[in-house]
Amino acid sequence: MARRKKLVKVVLGVLVGVLISQFSNREHTCSQSRPKAAAAAPPPARSDDNLVFVGVMTAAQYLDTRARAVYETWGRKLPGKVVFFSSEDSYSDQVPLVALPDVDDSYPPQKKSFMMLKYMYDHYIDRFEWFMRADDDVYVRTDRLEELLRSVDSRKPWFIGQTGRGTTEEFGTLSLDSDENFCMGGPGVIFSRETLKRMAPFVEECLSNLYTTHEDVELGRCVRRFAGISCTWSYEASDCDCKMQVILYHNQSGQAAFTGDLKQKEVHRAITLHPVKQPRHMYRLDKYVKALQVQSYQQEKIELHRDIAASMEELGFRIRNLQNASLVEGLPLFPESRGSEKYLGDTSLLGLPGRLTRQQPRNVDDVLDWELISKTLYSWRDLNPRRRIGSCLKEGLSDVVRDIMEVINSYSKQRGRVIDFKEILYGYWRLDPVHGVDLILDLLLVYRKYRGHKMTVQVRRHAYVQQTFTEISIREVKNYDFPYMSQRSSTTAAIPVHQKLVKHLVSTFEQIPPILHPSPPKKQEVINFVLPLSGRYKIFRRFLKMYEDVCLKRQEEAKLFVVLYQNDRSSDFLRSGALIEDVQRTYGSDAVVAIYTNETFSRARALERGLSLLSGDDLVLFMDVDMIFHPRSLQRVRQNTVKEKSVYFPIVYSLYNPRLLNRTYPDNYSFFTDDIVDEDSGFWRQFGFGIVSLYKSDYVGLGGLNLLISGWGFEDVTFYDNAIKSSLRIVRSVDPNLIHVYHSIECDINLDAAQKTMCLGTQANMLGSLKQLQKVYERYEEVVVS
Ligand SMILES: *[C@@H]1O[C@H](CO)[C@@H](O)[C@H](O)[C@H]1NC(C)=O
Ligand SMILES: *[C@@H]1O[C@H](CO)[C@@H](O)[C@H](O)[C@H]1NC(C)=O
Ligand SMILES: *[C@@H]1O[C@H](CO)[C@@H](O)[C@H](O)[C@H]1NC(C)=O
Ligand SMILES: *[C@@H]1O[C@H](CO)[C@@H](O)[C@H](O)[C@H]1NC(C)=O
Ligand SMILES: *[C@@H]1O[C@H](CO)[C@@H](O)[C@H](O)[C@H]1NC(C)=O
Repeated sequence: MARRKKLVKVVLGVLVGVLISQFSNREHTCSQSRPKAAAAAPPPARSDDNLVFVGVMTAAQYLDTRARAVYETWGRKLPGKVVFFSSEDSYSDQVPLVALPDVDDSYPPQKKSFMMLKYMYDHYIDRFEWFMRADDDVYVRTDRLEELLRSVDSRKPWFIGQTGRGTTEEFGTLSLDSDENFCMGGPGVIFSRETLKRMAPFVEECLSNLYTTHEDVELGRCVRRFAGISCTWSYEASDCDCKMQVILYHNQSGQAAFTGDLKQKEVHRAITLHPVKQPRHMYRLDKYVKALQVQSYQQEKIELHRDIAASMEELGFRIRNLQNASLVEGLPLFPESRGSEKYLGDTSLLGLPGRLTRQQPRNVDDVLDWELISKTLYSWRDLNPRRRIGSCLKEGLSDVVRDIMEVINSYSKQRGRVIDFKEILYGYWRLDPVHGVDLILDLLLVYRKYRGHKMTVQVRRHAYVQQTFTEISIREVKNYDFPYMSQRSSTTAAIPVHQKLVKHLVSTFEQIPPILHPSPPKKQEVINFVLPLSGRYKIFRRFLKMYEDVCLKRQEEAKLFVVLYQNDRSSDFLRSGALIEDVQRTYGSDAVVAIYTNETFSRARALERGLSLLSGDDLVLFMDVDMIFHPRSLQRVRQNTVKEKSVYFPIVYSLYNPRLLNRTYPDNYSFFTDDIVDEDSGFWRQFGFGIVSLYKSDYVGLGGLNLLISGWGFEDVTFYDNAIKSSLRIVRSVDPNLIHVYHSIECDINLDAAQKTMCLGTQANMLGSLKQLQKVYERYEEVVVS
């Protein structure tokens, strides 16, 4: 619990950054370890930068929406200048605008496009290296654009864009020769200065010789004619992943593009994204891209901390004591002290190198547990160890895998191969509440060599990944009213918020009358309890007292059939019989029915005996004398059991041996409160199937219990199996008001092997929680070991 609290605090920090600390080197082509710094964004561009001039074609009606969204997002971060071009009479005080004379907003915008290029040429040709024609529904990742443009020689003629040849229907109508193409307009078209220089003086001529109504086709034709080049589908410096349809990405889904999940390979790889039809999606996309940038800065920061830590260690400092370290006399390593705004961060913690031994356990409680990720998750966090992989873990894994694949493929071009991700075969993960998340993944990948000796093979790779916590960041939200918090005094502040919330919700629901305090009930279904009983007088006394309180006094529609075994040596059955007669005198002879038998004890047979007094339409609940329950449980039994439709197998809460907890449970059931359900007191009997409610006709239809099994059960498991195989629906759910009180079990040495294993297993399960057992073990270790 303590650890979990710590964890909640730390998870508030930003979880960032993946480091492939080691990459299995069974195949040498990707055995290097490489920090991700190369993928980090360059420093923000200066606005007086003269790398690129972007002309955005827009229209009067979009000036306040799309154009403004472009200008307020990527337009401002450009290493150069952005200007919007619209029709003759346009006006805006929001964006830098050129209203082109003699141009209207009609479609296709051929004239607008050509006149825009002419304007760029006339006014800016000597000031910028690159010129880009963009639509108002494109998003540009300016840092990536800069990276691309700075890697290409702008003195040469370039016409860069996503190559088009027209659709099949258009084939032959675009007046293109088979070897001719054009740059598709949507995702953006880039001209080097040389290209614009060659072609812009001739735009009037191109405009008067249009072959089609497609603006981008005609632009391509004009560039080919006067600059002598066609659209570049891939540029020299690119690696194999840099085909233009990848980096100038156009999504086919029209209005719906970029409105959904943005965590996609395409979005992460692209320089421009098209089309973003709604301004709000432009802002959203911008926020997402900024977050990616923040992440890479965080990554860089962690790496710098690591550099500092490693260097200081080389210089003979101890990493733990870097706080007050001075490089030389009077030159402190950290000029700003902790707590001040410019403090650089805690290098002793953040600078720890990535390795799986970052956390050194000091005692058993400190040891971090790994969880196994396979088709399902095998986790120690839950009593039912095998669980579905939750959506947050799934999302986290796919993020990690995307990052890993980026790192693996960053050398693809040089090596002439691409590696694609197929699946995670299995993996382990653990959370270190101080440092971050550790992952070991066994990945199935497809290795495709496209240069030299071509081949495609599946390979397996191990990836060791660490996601490191950065500092906790706190964001203050002003005037936020959290109603529950403000009602309470500050003394309860120590309880974690989520617990408070849960308590609040529970108490709110408690007040909803129909569920818990049913108004005079309609005719309710009678629940017929069948209870086998052999000996155990004191426990039965407790059970009957509870039954009286819960059912008889409250006039529940219920009936109890007790199958009493007469052949036990003690006089328990006599005393139990007398108790039943007492109850019958008070509540009528129908309230509790006693069935006596002399056979050897068999739970299955006892239940059948009780059933023999009922008819097919009766609702039956198989009971156990160790159980105590609450009226709510009866309600659940009625709701979950439907004739010919469903059988209800509640998962009961089973109390551990109280002695291990230094507790005693009295004979009466007064200790029973709602609060008893917690990790140490007991456990959910996930594998107990003895308490069942169903209609007798369904019981018969399922073939009943196996009567050949005598003594201590197994019959319930086979019955559950049959129920699963049948067409009936199984309702299986925990019931916190259905409690099995601990009693010690003696496992009869004469039981057959399977029964004995189960009996011993149950015995061990019921002893105590793992945590309690571990404490006992620690205390008595010598005894146990010797
Ligand atoms: C791109 O389009 C496809 C199919 O039209 C769609 O499934 C996908 O979500 C879109 N991607 C984005 C980022 O919108
Ligand atoms: C660093 O110096 C401050 C103030 O001089 C002192 O309080 C603190 O204990 C020192 N920390 C270490 C790790 O030496
Ligand atoms: C069980 O056995 C006892 C004594 O042997 C006898 O008195 C009693 O009637 C028997 N009960 C039944 C239900 O057969
Ligand atoms: C159990 O409780 C008793 C009385 O409260 C106390 O004296 C004893 O130390 C406890 N034992 C353990 C193991 O906690
Ligand atoms: C239950 O038993 C305990 C001890 O035997 C006793 O102190 C308590 O009063 C009893 N409660 C009721 C409701 O009978």
